[in-house]
Amino acid sequence: MTASLATVAYIGATILFILSLGGLSHPESARRGNLFGVIGMTIAVLATVFGPRVTPAGYAWIVGALVVGGAIGLVAAQKVKMTQMPELVAAMHSLVGLAACLVGFASYVDTSTVFPTAAEKTIHEVEIYIGIFIGAVTFSGSIIAFGKLSGKIGGKPLLLPARHWLNLVALLLVLWFGREFLAAPGIGAGIVPLVVMTVIALLFGVHLVMAIGGADMPVVVSMLNSYSGWAAAATGFMLSNDLLIVVGALVGSSGAILSYIMCRAMNRNFLSVIAGGFGSGGGAPAASGGEQPAGEVVPISAVETAELLREAKSVIIVPGYGMAVAQAQHTVFEITKALRDRGVKVRFGIHPVAGRMPGHMNVLLAEAKVPYDIVLELDEINEDFPDTDVAMVIGANDIVNPAAQEDPASPIAGMPVLEVWKAHTSIVMKRSMASGYAGIDNPLFYKENNRMLFGDAKKMLDEVLAALKA
Ligand code: TAP
Repeated sequence: MTASLATVAYIGATILFILSLGGLSHPESARRGNLFGVIGMTIAVLATVFGPRVTPAGYAWIVGALVVGGAIGLVAAQKVKMTQMPELVAAMHSLVGLAACLVGFASYVDTSTVFPTAAEKTIHEVEIYIGIFIGAVTFSGSIIAFGKLSGKIGGKPLLLPARHWLNLVALLLVLWFGREFLAAPGIGAGIVPLVVMTVIALLFGVHLVMAIGGADMPVVVSMLNSYSGWAAAATGFMLSNDLLIVVGALVGSSGAILSYIMCRAMNRNFLSVIAGGFGSGGGAPAASGGEQPAGEVVPISAVETAELLREAKSVIIVPGYGMAVAQAQHTVFEITKALRDRGVKVRFGIHPVAGRMPGHMNVLLAEAKVPYDIVLELDEINEDFPDTDVAMVIGANDIVNPAAQEDPASPIAGMPVLEVWKAHTSIVMKRSMASGYAGIDNPLFYKENNRMLFGDAKKMLDEVLAALKA
């Protein structure tokens, strides 16, 4: 393939990636968006493999890597449950970071490239230094995020004394070693500051994510998403690959926009997220094992729940992580249909961080064919709870915790929540009194107008549906 044909293919792939991002912004067009992404990536890989920069001698290596990578991807796609997606995404981000580091070191020790001017050589070295820095932070930060999301590392934030000063010192050291690296006379002399900076960057990434409290992890995941994009863009600069630069910038900027949206949704300051250690300011750190619940709760049966729903004029359903775990979305749809057929006004209230990934609930409800027009965002529905007869919380906890508004010392203080307790009656469906992701008790359970429907969400909803139809 000639260089100009490869460039045309790259431009085509770029356009497809942009269309893909556009499609993914709405559930209705998401499938199409995904397809555009797949086609774009296929074109990009083919144009690279058969492009002018790969010699036939390299084909065996590339095919081997494609087979290994493809097999891992295939197994992961089949094995990983929907609720484990954020962990998988974090693991993938770490690989992007690792690739940026490896490419950086490889291009530094590769003596085959000849630079016509000293300035060009310096620019290349700056690209390497920045690329490895971003890659190392993304790599170690994503590994810690993977550990936290999969429960292998506790959700409690690690708050070292003077942590912001530590970060600042680390950044100053990175700058100082950068100067040493650029001034080094040869590869032998330059490799030392490069390795030292990499170690500092790895520790920096660990510290950045370790300092984040449980309930604020969504912002970290989208932030690492953004970092991985910039790491890919940096790799593109190191390899002089235009497509990688553009795609990296697309991922980096869309991840940054998502982080900003998440910050607004969580009522957090964007800059303090980048500095790390937010989500703990002012509030007590989240207990990793979960706090002991306090107070008395009123249990309710599935039959009584069905009666309350049947008599209601207006119902708001608030789904959370537990609905995803129980895979109860199809029964939720059946109940919604049965109630709507009876003339009950049913709507869904979706919290921006419900579940374990952005849009988690929207995807599940769309899969169960719940009409989009009754699925509303937090801002759109929160004012309607006082006029609602029944608010049904299905496997959600942190996103309906009134402590966010009532207790300034709570780790989730200030986070907007769905005000289900303002409905005439709220029903919380969960299996026990266990806490949610943030590991904190929920005063909602003890409110006078709240009822607890204990049990697996799918099983209990099946019983509610049977009672509704009886
Ligand atoms: P959580 O606060 O985690 O609460 C989920 C509840 O579901 C748990 O209390 C659990 O109680 C219950 N549950 C689990 N399995 C169940 C089952 N089979 N049947 C019925 N109930 C079940 O979830 P949420 O309210 O959706 O809030 C999301 C949390 O995750 C927030 O803290 C958020 O910050 C965090 N987070 C979100 C994201 C994104 S981007 N969405 C990413 C990472 C972290 P039992 O054990 O008693 O059943």
